[in-house]
Amino acid sequence: MTTAKNLAQRLARPELLDLQIYQSARRIGGQGDIWINANESPFNNSSLEGVNRYPECQPSALIDAYSRYSGVANNCILTGRGADEAIEILIRTFCTPAQDAIATFGPTYGMYAISAKTANVAVTALQLTDDFQLPSDYASQLDDCAYNANTKIVFICNPNNPTGSVIAKAELIKVIDSNPERIIVVDEAYIEFSPEYSVADLVESRANLVVLRTLSKAFALAGARCGFLLANPDIIDMCMRVIAPYPVPLPVSDLAVKALSPQGLLTMQSQVDDMSQQGLRLAHALQAYGATVVNAHGNYVLAQFSDKTTVQQKLTQAGVIARSYSDSRLADSIRFSFSNRSQTDYLISLFSASN
Ligand SMILES: Cc1ncc(COP(=O)(O)O)c(C=O)c1O
Repeated sequence: MTTAKNLAQRLARPELLDLQIYQSARRIGGQGDIWINANESPFNNSSLEGVNRYPECQPSALIDAYSRYSGVANNCILTGRGADEAIEILIRTFCTPAQDAIATFGPTYGMYAISAKTANVAVTALQLTDDFQLPSDYASQLDDCAYNANTKIVFICNPNNPTGSVIAKAELIKVIDSNPERIIVVDEAYIEFSPEYSVADLVESRANLVVLRTLSKAFALAGARCGFLLANPDIIDMCMRVIAPYPVPLPVSDLAVKALSPQGLLTMQSQVDDMSQQGLRLAHALQAYGATVVNAHGNYVLAQFSDKTTVQQKLTQAGVIARSYSDSRLADSIRFSFSNRSQTDYLISLFSASN
């Protein structure tokens, strides 16, 4: 008798179901003092203990620390090289090249489409409404698109990059619950700036929900490359078949565990509060200058200018590098990341009446 497949098994690329996952020496493990099973060096030439050995695939101290911080159970967490790696793993796990598709709601973070296209997976590019909400007929748009049943993953970025807008939790729940045969990925890279919108508390009860997180934003560790995929254990099990054997370098997990310690969390929270305050000041100055500003829920504000070329020249002359967009909906817009007080003072002075 064959047992019924769970959702992750039904949606995964079929060849993954009976894939014998790579048995790294670290995974096989063993008991004893003389470790000669991984072609490592016995010499540690660094002050960092254990760096001559391969790290754990999923460092338990890091998973424990993220579980304590997020309130999500250990067996629902996968860690890797940033949320970007999680996006790639999801596409490689669930989308068959030249057959399946992902859906996105633009304007949004560009890596969903890039990761899909580099894997020969199609992109159903739907649009957010004028006020950056899900279109009310998004379900029929998904049903009518060329890839319909083959649209395996729907990416929703919340708060959305680059607009800074948010979708209410109740709306997200509707999408999750009305698409039981698709993976709904909610990218919460910026959630520390608007924690009340998180759906991470639902990953254990929703078979099709994946939440992405990162230490690159609020935790100030973009250079370390550390992110998290939160989902039920069936999805984690499938993704574990695809992830690299050693995705988290030892120094990175050390840094990340410190950032997630009680002291690290206090630092993060006070920096988030400070950046949010500076961001509000900047948004007001941009509005006073005449820009149309989207209410900011991340650590950036999107401003639309009637004189974008002049503004860009002003910023370039002042040595300020902000993010300008060329796609049609954002052609007049510039995104400003929030910064510290002194840089914000400087930016505000550029937009004041006398400049
Ligand atoms: C919405 C969103 N998701 C994911 C990422 C990538 O995060 P990471 O640095 O963890 O790869 C970014 C980075 O800008 C982002 O804006």
